[in-house]
Amino acid sequence: MKVLITKRIPEAGISFLLEKGYEVVVREKDGLISPDELIRGLQDFDGMISMLSDPIGADVLSTAGKCRVIANYAVGTNNIDIKAANKQGITITNTPDVLTEATAELAMALLLAASRQIVQADRFAREGKFKGWDPLLLLGKGLDGKTVGIVGMGRIGQAFARMVSGFNARVLYYSRTKQPVPYPLVDFETLLKESDFISLHLPLTNESRHMFAVNEFNLMKEGVVFINTARGPIVREKDLVNALKSGKIAFAGLDVYEFEPDITEELKTTDNVVLLPHIGSATEKARNDMAILAAENVDAVLKGKPPITPCGVMGGSEK
Ligand code: DGY
Repeated sequence: MKVLITKRIPEAGISFLLEKGYEVVVREKDGLISPDELIRGLQDFDGMISMLSDPIGADVLSTAGKCRVIANYAVGTNNIDIKAANKQGITITNTPDVLTEATAELAMALLLAASRQIVQADRFAREGKFKGWDPLLLLGKGLDGKTVGIVGMGRIGQAFARMVSGFNARVLYYSRTKQPVPYPLVDFETLLKESDFISLHLPLTNESRHMFAVNEFNLMKEGVVFINTARGPIVREKDLVNALKSGKIAFAGLDVYEFEPDITEELKTTDNVVLLPHIGSATEKARNDMAILAAENVDAVLKGKPPITPCGVMGGSEK
């Protein structure tokens, strides 16, 4: 049986499939995969390991041939129309758990980098601008005694909350459902009004698209710190730029973008935001474990067994 992997992944996942006797084709091209390539993949391959950047919509899926499983190499599955896939008899899986700590760590790193101006300070030092210690140089915002509002309290949100608590910050959260966590669940408006730091850890769905736009930014505290490591389209990027420029948002840290991989030009020229190229799960261990889990999912489905981490039709599991 044949498996297509739409981008090179760590060797462990590839050798797992080769050892099980699959013919494996890795797409080595740079850049986004085209709809035609995806359609050919679905027709010619029994299984596919897809990337979060592969748009597998109903149009592409309507022509599905022999493909029986698409194992998305990510926890988020908003790039796939799961309902349309299931209609075609294709099982969709994702890679939860194995990337939880890595992604929460990245959110923590981004929060600290943004709020303490780490990137700006590095640039300042390299440019030869450091002429001596200065009481007013590059002042940031600390977590001690502050309130951190977490939007989405799935696995990654919980790991992030645990990390933040170690910094002596108060955590509150907003989620559609109450979670078994020792932090208060508040309504969305309360979270926006009370938080000094806001971090997003929810999947992209029809309900969460543009959940953060001008009205939500207006409700936030003056000088809030805003972190997004979840999905770009949850935020209306144009409104975020304005909130950064007006100082409503003092600092932001972004790992994801509304029009990914494009980044709104104005963000690139705005100083109080740290921009990363979607590296939330990018540790060697997480990416290795994701490769193995994706390969195991493909193997399970193609052997007629239940997938290890199947996805429902809600547009992605809780991040
Ligand atoms: C995912 O896997 O969905 C995350 O975005 C990883 O960075």
